[in-house]
Amino acid sequence: MADLQHWLITGASSGIGRLAAERLQQQGHRLTVICRSQQRADQTLGWLTGESRVLLADLADLDQVQAIGHALLEKDEALDGLLLNAGLQYAGHRQVRWSAQGLELTIAVNHLAHQRLVMDLLPLLLRSHAPRLVITASEVHNPASGGGRVGRPAGLGDLSGLKKHSEMVNGERPFDADKAYKDSKLCNLLMGRHLAERHPQLPVICWSPGLVIPRGRDGFFRNSREANPLGQALFGFVARDLLRLTEHPQRAAELLERLVLDPAMPSGFSYWSNTLLAPGRHRFERAETSAEAADEAKAARLWQVSEQLVV
Ligand SMILES: NC(=O)c1ccc[n+]([C@@H]2O[C@H](COP(=O)([O-])OP(=O)(O)OC[C@H]3O[C@@H](n4cnc5c(N)ncnc54)[C@H](OP(=O)(O)O)[C@@H]3O)[C@@H](O)[C@H]2O)c1
Repeated sequence: MADLQHWLITGASSGIGRLAAERLQQQGHRLTVICRSQQRADQTLGWLTGESRVLLADLADLDQVQAIGHALLEKDEALDGLLLNAGLQYAGHRQVRWSAQGLELTIAVNHLAHQRLVMDLLPLLLRSHAPRLVITASEVHNPASGGGRVGRPAGLGDLSGLKKHSEMVNGERPFDADKAYKDSKLCNLLMGRHLAERHPQLPVICWSPGLVIPRGRDGFFRNSREANPLGQALFGFVARDLLRLTEHPQRAAELLERLVLDPAMPSGFSYWSNTLLAPGRHRFERAETSAEAADEAKAARLWQVSEQLVV
């Protein structure tokens, strides 16, 4: 067995993250799982074992995120990996939602909270003899991909909207929750790119799980279901059961486990995509990001602008 490691994970209270965390734990690794509510924390404690634990923080509130970072720093915790997997989208809703600090919710949770965590925890991570950062992005960051072609494309423009706490990162109107999600996943990749550039010894692994629509009421499409229950039920049935365009949640979790543990992962930045080849057939492989997600100057600018928003 590989060395036992300590991983801090966001987004392990449900979906792909939870299934992957269970697999990591079965192999004896110690997990610190961030949950946003006492209810989610209690559920998570129900399956965590050994020295694994839950810390409470709503990623929509930077004060709570910072409190966790500071507590871990103060205790000088040993950390081997950071898995930034939490993510939300509320496509289908017209009304913009805001974080505790008055930032658009999708960008605040999916990107800014994660940058804040990285800023605080990087010194602990870099002390590990085999540190690793894994970030769950999505192919929709890429306007040329299957999912990225549907609706308004990802694109951060000159970041003027982000700087001004506007609804959209590029400052455009009207608000579009689907584009905000695509933009947040582009931010995930740019942050990964920038961190790999600044810390060449740190493997930074970004990935896209493919479309994952679990059965049941929880999961990634829960907010969209509120806006359009019938449409989402139909979408789930057609995409998952009829056309077989989706990936099984357990398979997505297996892929994530591999990205976390495989000793053969390359150093520096890499992007892995679980691409749909045909109904029921995916191929998981290292892939190119969109041109915008490969723009190192933009990655550095995004880091800087985000840093000013999260401190
Ligand atoms: N499903 C897909 O088709 C798909 C495709 C591409 C990429 N992804 C990405 O995959 C990742 C996991 O998604 P999933 O499909 O497993 O969805 P999920 O079941 O909805 O899991 C999302 C996780 O993020 C957590 N989270 C959301 N908002 C949070 C907040 N404010 N504070 C703390 N935690 C918060 C959720 O916590 P709660 O349990 O408290 O809600 C949950 O643990 C996401 O980054 C998503 O963008 C998913």
